[in-house]
Amino acid sequence: MCVESENDLVSLLQIGQIVKLTLRTMQDRLRSGMTTKQLDTIGWEVLKQHGAHSAPIITYKFPGITCISVNEEAAHGIPGSRIIRAGDLVKIDVSAELNGYFADAAITVPVPPVVPLHQRLCDCAKAACEAAIAVAKANTPINEIGRVAEMTIRQCGFHVIRELPGHGVGRALHEEPFNVANYYRPLAKQRLKEGLVLTIEPHIAAGSGRIVTEQDGWTLKTRDGSFAAAYEHTVVITKDRPIITTA
Ligand code: CO
Repeated sequence: MCVESENDLVSLLQIGQIVKLTLRTMQDRLRSGMTTKQLDTIGWEVLKQHGAHSAPIITYKFPGITCISVNEEAAHGIPGSRIIRAGDLVKIDVSAELNGYFADAAITVPVPPVVPLHQRLCDCAKAACEAAIAVAKANTPINEIGRVAEMTIRQCGFHVIRELPGHGVGRALHEEPFNVANYYRPLAKQRLKEGLVLTIEPHIAAGSGRIVTEQDGWTLKTRDGSFAAAYEHTVVITKDRPIITTA
């Protein structure tokens, strides 16, 4: 969507802050020994408390409130009986709706003890997200986001998971533009419009970055079994730095 009124912006910020609080609460209460389902329930309680709804459920009938992906799982992991263990890398992706407005954000939480490779992977995904957000301004070609994200990720020695791009968001979970790539697409030159709402979400892997879908039909995991990390924010494009609704 494109922000057209004060009410649009206020409503986007409202759901953005609920998503942020949900992520923070889940991160704070994450412990090794709990199941991903237990962690998901913590998220559900925060959303419910604020009258917000799980976007993956209302949009895709996803079998969970949030997406929780562990280690080699890159995205869309279904919360369930999997036990979170010491040394795991847990990606929590929360998207939610309130009053017809949506926000979408993700973090990666390393469970101690953290090996240096996994810490570097998390730091790199976060740095790529921040670098891409910093260049997302009105009139900038959309491929600048991918160029900057890819450059950051390459410099860390990791790879972009190309099949997991950012996307437009706001009045639905997924809207135009549907492919906010995290790698450089020379032909994607359309310019970002002031007020456009989109997600910036680099997904990266320590290995090749190729992914496959698991038997459950949802979970995307790396083909080579390497660990994956991701950070995501919902942003509103302005003439200067974007407004991050989920920060
Ligand atoms: Co997203």
